[in-house]
Amino acid sequence: MRAVTWHGRADVQVDTVPDPTLQEDTDVIVEVTSSGICGSDLHLIEVMAPFMTKGDVMGHEPMGVVREVGSAVTAVKPGDRVVVPFNISCGSCWMCSQGLQSQCETTQNREKGFGASLFGYTKLYGQVPGGQAEYLRVPFGNTLPIKVPEGAPDDRFVYLSDVLPTAWQAVQYAATPPGGTLLVLGLGPIGDMCTRIAHHLGIDDVYASDVVPERLARAAARGTHVIRTTKKDDVVRAIQEATAGRGADAVIDAVGMEAHGSPLASMAQKATAVVPDAIMERVMQVAGVDRLAALNTAIDAVRRGGTISLSGVYGGATDPLPLMRMFDKQIQLRMGQANVWRWVPDILPLLVDGDPLGVDDFATHRVPLEQAPQAYADFREKKDGSVKVLLRP
Ligand SMILES: NC(=O)c1ccc[n+]([C@@H]2O[C@H](COP(=O)([O-])OP(=O)(O)OC[C@H]3O[C@@H](n4cnc5c(N)ncnc54)[C@H](O)[C@@H]3O)[C@@H](O)[C@H]2O)c1
Ligand SMILES: [Zn+2]
Ligand SMILES: [Zn+2]
Repeated sequence: MRAVTWHGRADVQVDTVPDPTLQEDTDVIVEVTSSGICGSDLHLIEVMAPFMTKGDVMGHEPMGVVREVGSAVTAVKPGDRVVVPFNISCGSCWMCSQGLQSQCETTQNREKGFGASLFGYTKLYGQVPGGQAEYLRVPFGNTLPIKVPEGAPDDRFVYLSDVLPTAWQAVQYAATPPGGTLLVLGLGPIGDMCTRIAHHLGIDDVYASDVVPERLARAAARGTHVIRTTKKDDVVRAIQEATAGRGADAVIDAVGMEAHGSPLASMAQKATAVVPDAIMERVMQVAGVDRLAALNTAIDAVRRGGTISLSGVYGGATDPLPLMRMFDKQIQLRMGQANVWRWVPDILPLLVDGDPLGVDDFATHRVPLEQAPQAYADFREKKDGSVKVLLRP
């Protein structure tokens, strides 16, 4: 089959790789019909590159049609339309039963000290082949795939794999009080969807910061107050002016490691290109790189006693956090990979009955799998109006 594979920093290609096969009697094989490119994929071709191996199949936002099922699978059958969550979770362990599917105890990567395995996502998370491919092997066929109705185009359901539950969790973790103010940092697909969900859940005062014009325009069109800068002092000033000097009740960081604004960030990015992988792997795990620009904005922009909800992905261990300031401001901090299945029952009704979140025209680009390298480059460089790309294998 054809698949998007990792070849190095800023380098993905489309290769012919072996078709996946059933390995356990609970596996299913899904023929992928749509597959998103995510901001997390950009980390893999930048700072997380030391944890990737040439030939790894990328992608963790797929949906499609079940083609084969193992002998113990009863929940889905060939021909069923399914979305595949990005976390690989068993659905039956203690963590899964607590709604913490990203910490699934069956797929936890204990030897690496990391949580549940993820499709298409580094050695730290199981090095499981991803879904930017014609076919995908999906374990836990009775509990993992999300069955979705026929009828509407893929665009309606595909974001259940990641964007929707990630943004939903970010808004829940932010816990904006009634009548309160929410600030969203970053208007990529995740931040954009956070603003939509916040409005839908009745949060009136939603502010968002970014510098990419078409991303700002999308958010403004749906009633978000946009702050057209990512400079910390300017964002903090804008939010203070809007809140009697107090700061936002809640801040969502939907940026993560790819933040611009940190003087060391581009240096670290260049370093990953020249330092041998074995060394960079250690640096990323035990030291980290200074890429906390957005998080530092969040810490300054949130009001005393407010909440920061972190959905952007961070790595490293010794990037300095201003702990004294965080303690003094009594900041509450919640974070983590989204627990996809935890939120599916809340979100699915919003996809079946009308389109209140505007998923039908959320994608800016829908391209054949073969055009993935160009699509990655445009998304990475935010060129050609690229906000959300769906690959159509
Ligand atoms: N927690 C999860 O389960 C989960 C799931 C999916 C994605 N993510 C992470 O969420 C983050 C966003 O994903 P995306 O697909 O929207 O990515 P993206 O790269 O398209 O969007 C990031 C946006 O942040 C903006 N930005 C950069 N620096 C900024 C700053 N200092 N302040 C404000 N905005 C800034 C960029 O201009 C860009 O528009 C990534 O880190 C991704 O890895 C997490
Ligand atoms: Zn994703
Ligand atoms: Zn589990």
